[in-house]
Amino acid sequence: MIQMDLSHIRQFIPLPYEEARAAQLRLAHSHLQHGDGAGGEFTGWVQLPRQYDREEFARIQAAARKIQQDSQALVVIGIGGSYLGARGVIECLCSPNYNLKKKDTPNIYFTGNGLSSDQMAELMDLLEGVDFSVNVISKSGTTTEPAVAFRFFRKLLEERYGPEEAARRIYATTDRRKGALKALADQAGYETFVVPDDIGGRYSVLTAVGLLPIAVAGVDICQLMEGAETMMEVCAKTDMAENPAWQYAAARYELYRTGKKIEVLAAYEPSFRFMAEWWKQLYGESEGKEHKGLFPASVEFTADLHSMGQYIQQGERSLFETVVRFGASHRPQVVPLDETDGDGLNFLAGKDVDFIRTQAMDGTLLAHVEGGVPNIILRTGQINAFTLGELIYFFEYACGLSGYLLDVNPFDQPGVEAYKKNMFALLGKPGYEALRQELAEKLHR
Ligand code: PA5
Repeated sequence: MIQMDLSHIRQFIPLPYEEARAAQLRLAHSHLQHGDGAGGEFTGWVQLPRQYDREEFARIQAAARKIQQDSQALVVIGIGGSYLGARGVIECLCSPNYNLKKKDTPNIYFTGNGLSSDQMAELMDLLEGVDFSVNVISKSGTTTEPAVAFRFFRKLLEERYGPEEAARRIYATTDRRKGALKALADQAGYETFVVPDDIGGRYSVLTAVGLLPIAVAGVDICQLMEGAETMMEVCAKTDMAENPAWQYAAARYELYRTGKKIEVLAAYEPSFRFMAEWWKQLYGESEGKEHKGLFPASVEFTADLHSMGQYIQQGERSLFETVVRFGASHRPQVVPLDETDGDGLNFLAGKDVDFIRTQAMDGTLLAHVEGGVPNIILRTGQINAFTLGELIYFFEYACGLSGYLLDVNPFDQPGVEAYKKNMFALLGKPGYEALRQELAEKLHR
């Protein structure tokens, strides 16, 4: 269960803001529940944990088993919402060192999330002599980065296994009907999974987009969905006291209104790093428009207390922190006694690292609040598939609410198109000739 501790923001917000925001929250909540707000056609994720396609879910599990049996590696090609959720969940539940661990599941490599020749070449080296499959993920089916990467890895598969076996090793997750990837998949006979029409990329981790790679890594995706379903019931409540998503959305909105323009998501688990990347995309793309929105940043404590900690303590006072606190570790580590006590640490002997960490968390909390940084604390259970399912749904729901509180459409991303148009023009894509000329002049080419 997720619990919000808002006691360390009170001194920064004088108003009884919950009452002041209640009406707006009720409206935002109603828009999410009924799909009648801006971008309402993309609210399929709200009911998803209960209303997902069971037949497809079983196919995902079957495909994951097949990949586990016939492949030592899975190459996952996708960018943005077609990438970050799967990586976040796998790193959080299986470790950032997942590929280095002894295990009976395939290594998972993410690519197509940038344009780096070095990264692509390195991955091809890593796949030498390795049986592999490919999961290419693109809702639109036309995104340049994954499409380019897919050309390379499809070719590699075809050279290694021949076209028929290659086709059996390619899994395409894309739109039900349209897009270049869908057409290619139908023509070549790849197994396909659907990104539902009413779910946008950054809200799609609990669809086949995230579930197939996550299942291949050996995560119990039923538990993930159950956690999300439990949180869906909690988030459906219309009482601020019982709905942590309402509490979070209202608190961060109020902090934004009082001049805190940057939200720093902090966690004390290195394995959470890519969940934070997922969170940044979710909030940055959903809120950052019409010259509004909190800038989402993230830090990994305690490592970043020795770098960004300086800025947080004493830099510009325009930020607040949201700290995710997980329950105790599954593998507690007790500090050993050292008879010589050469390092002077025997006062910690017999204490476990979680205990030391708790003191670090509390010490940091007090120091940062004292330094003028409001802290929202989000407590959740031990890290497992269920609690992560809860957390994912919680963040998605609070994000939808936050967009409506800001009076923006939380489900579009018009700003992402600007770079794409320029890139296509500069690349000489047919249809962009006039823009190409204009840009060339600006670049003095
Ligand atoms: O949230 C979004 O919609 C985007 O970040 C997309 O996920 C990203 O641009 C990738 O798009 P696609 O899945 O169509 O390749």
